[in-house]
Amino acid sequence: MADSVSRTGTCYTTPGILDYVNRVHALHDAGLARAFAVPEGVPAIQVGPSDGKLIALLLRLAGATKVVEVGTLVGYSAILMVRALGAGGHLWSVEFDPRHAEIARGNLAAAGVADRVTVLVGAGLDVLPTLEAHAPFDAVFIDADKVNYDHYGRWAVDHLRPGGLVIGDNAYLFGELLDDSDRGRAMRGFHELVAATCESVCAPTPDGLVVGIKR
Ligand code: SAH
Ligand code: DHB
Ligand code: MG
Repeated sequence: MADSVSRTGTCYTTPGILDYVNRVHALHDAGLARAFAVPEGVPAIQVGPSDGKLIALLLRLAGATKVVEVGTLVGYSAILMVRALGAGGHLWSVEFDPRHAEIARGNLAAAGVADRVTVLVGAGLDVLPTLEAHAPFDAVFIDADKVNYDHYGRWAVDHLRPGGLVIGDNAYLFGELLDDSDRGRAMRGFHELVAATCESVCAPTPDGLVVGIKR
């Protein structure tokens, strides 16, 4: 029923429903299962299976071949994205934590995509400028430190081709999007930049997923 409640944030998913739809539409093979199961000491903060599948489908629709990710963790979203790329496609994925990057490289190799993903260790702000020789990109997926989303968004818009995608996870900032905080301001800056430069939406995934098509 399209009443006011169902359009103001009520969420109909249950663990059982989510498990069902993830199994039907976003089933893990061995490579994805390995990267989804983060080892002890690594936070389980990957995108959800349905969010990740949505990102992969968007890349496919865009005909993406050259993509940048900020925030590799252990490679789950990277595997989903690289599998969606066209022939000759390549993903550059930036990760600050060398331990995460090392585990990601193992997972990418196990998934058979190591030759199509370059994991770069360092802070996004330092590493992104080193990728500019490969620009323009078809998509940039931002999923790292939230306080720098405005910078990552600016970099993305500046280095995407027209029609390219900027995608940002955690766009509700864990419920803190409207806070008077550095990361609240940064995340709002990201939203407003994407809206000003792209055809855009904040898709109501559990965490909020900004998607913009660069004008
Ligand atoms: N995209 C991944 C999840 C990323 S979690 C997936 O869905 O599978 C966020 C990652 O960003 C963490 O691994 C964290 O170490 C990394 N990170 C934090 N600050 C960073 C920075 N300044 N630059 C690059 N990566 C950063
Ligand atoms: C965190 C980061 C993420 O990218 C995410 O999707 C969930 C949590 C975090 O830093 O806690
Ligand atoms: Mg995230």
